[in-house]
Amino acid sequence: MFSANAPSNLNHLASDVLRLSDFFINNPDGLTPWTETFCQNAYRNYFLPLNYIRVANVIERGSQVGFFKGFETTIDWGSGPGTASLAFAHNEKLKTQLKSQILIEKSSSALKTFTDFNSQFIHPDFTTKLSLNNLSCNKNKTLLTFSYSLTEMDSLPEGWNEFEGLMILEPATHQDGRKLLELRKKLIAEGYFIWAPCLHQNNCPLLTLSKHDWCHDRFHVKAPDWFLKLEEYLPMKNRTVTTSYLLARKTKPDFDVTNKGRLTGDSLKEKGKTRQLICRSPEREFLAWMHKNKNEQVLPRGELVTLPNDLEVKSNELRVNTSPVITV
Ligand SMILES: C[S@@+](CC[C@H](N)C(=O)[O-])C[C@H]1O[C@@H](n2cnc3c(N)ncnc32)[C@H](O)[C@@H]1O
Repeated sequence: MFSANAPSNLNHLASDVLRLSDFFINNPDGLTPWTETFCQNAYRNYFLPLNYIRVANVIERGSQVGFFKGFETTIDWGSGPGTASLAFAHNEKLKTQLKSQILIEKSSSALKTFTDFNSQFIHPDFTTKLSLNNLSCNKNKTLLTFSYSLTEMDSLPEGWNEFEGLMILEPATHQDGRKLLELRKKLIAEGYFIWAPCLHQNNCPLLTLSKHDWCHDRFHVKAPDWFLKLEEYLPMKNRTVTTSYLLARKTKPDFDVTNKGRLTGDSLKEKGKTRQLICRSPEREFLAWMHKNKNEQVLPRGELVTLPNDLEVKSNELRVNTSPVITV
């Protein structure tokens, strides 16, 4: 989603990006100022491609566990330019599976400013009417999506729990990430099953057994040269981006979780061992490689892994012996 051609004035773009970034930091619950040209410029060239990468990678995480089976319609609530809808429409498998896309956005400026993307959506329907009633879709085959929009809202819109699937991405911050884990409890109470990142429906160990953790994933960014040059003007670099997400369905997951775990932390080198947080149950557990065994592995955060049978369990550590941990 990065523009192939470099924007004409990178210095000017950098100041727009900084301005919008400051706006998001100082107004974490504030509405994106779509009517302002600095916001439109910064979003199109910087925030949109980075959010697109987040969504596209979350789609990959979901595909890995069969999450998207049977969906025919996506609703993109708080669509902005349609970031999530574009990522669905560009996905090789989903673009043949989906029959329609509904984009719901509070700001008519956001919808009007980015109409050049419209031809890429699948039979789209755009609306500023903030309601889930009377939409032309089969709720049992519809995925309701919130990409960085829930953070600007007080609560989920009325009727959200009538839809088969929910895909929610939120900023990977302590505040938004833990709020999402609280929401996870609510979804489960409403009869939803969490398909990813969780491999179980029990309490989230990051929420119940820690006051500081929050679940988030990390993805690599392949950016064109002009974006790397733009970053020279900026204090923040984006070789990787993070996100907190939930994929939930009313249908029970059919993915086989035997011996599987999700890496919910980065690899941490400590005295005598390397540890990495892993989630497969309500326990807060770490994979551990003892340096004396010279078998250390550094695995990416967010990956699904298959655990070897010869793990040695010591307190909250799953110590890796001779057989390596395999990414799925
Ligand atoms: C940070 S932007 C995210 C845009 C886009 N989904 C993305 O991932 O790039 C949040 C969007 O949510 C919209 N929004 C905020 N509150 C809303 C509400 N109650 N209903 C619908 N849209 C809302 C804002 O206008 C804004 O476009």
